[in-house]
Amino acid sequence: MLLLLLPSPPKNCPYICNMSVKEHLRRRGIGWHLLKASEDLISNMSSLRNVYLHCRMIDAAPFSMYKKAGYAVIKTDSFLVLLTLQRRKYLMCKELPAPSEPLEMMIARDEEETPSSVDGAGSESLVLKEVLQSSLEMDG
Ligand SMILES: CC(C)(COP(=O)(O)OP(=O)(O)OC[C@H]1O[C@@H](n2cnc3c(N)ncnc32)[C@H](O)[C@@H]1OP(=O)(O)O)[C@@H](O)C(=O)NCCC(=O)NCCS
Repeated sequence: MLLLLLPSPPKNCPYICNMSVKEHLRRRGIGWHLLKASEDLISNMSSLRNVYLHCRMIDAAPFSMYKKAGYAVIKTDSFLVLLTLQRRKYLMCKELPAPSEPLEMMIARDEEETPSSVDGAGSESLVLKEVLQSSLEMDG
């Protein structure tokens, strides 16, 4: 029932959710930097430029942050969602700029920098490479 009432982003699109900063650390720019870091990661991992998120209508702080960051409301869920005891939500979207460095170059650079032996730091780099490669395969 709820799934039918909630405006959904397109299938397999980049989607940001569960962004949260501990209450006593809020209003110091952390949320903003988290959002920017998420967008940079998406830009470098996917060729899809439109990123989506949901924001509850009553949540003034994140709504203000998303608007300031360039997200626009593209859909609002039905008031009928109130019958399910859920808060009404906006579906918001932003078109990200193209990444500063193409994904293929990131992978090539990573391959050059990754040591042949898999130590602690190298394995982290390998995981990143695998994520980037599977993202490339998914994007065709
Ligand atoms: C939304 C949230 C992550 C913002 O984190 P934050 O570190 O406090 O945010 P920042 O200090 O980086 O502020 C960035 C912008 O957000 C907006 N903002 C943040 N707190 C706000 C508040 N209390 N009232 C209005 N706007 C607010 C402002 O536009 C702010 O820009 P400004 O400082 O230039 O005015 C944080 O409030 C939070 O965790 N809220 C609870 C969880 C939540 O609702 N998550 C969103 C799920 S969609």
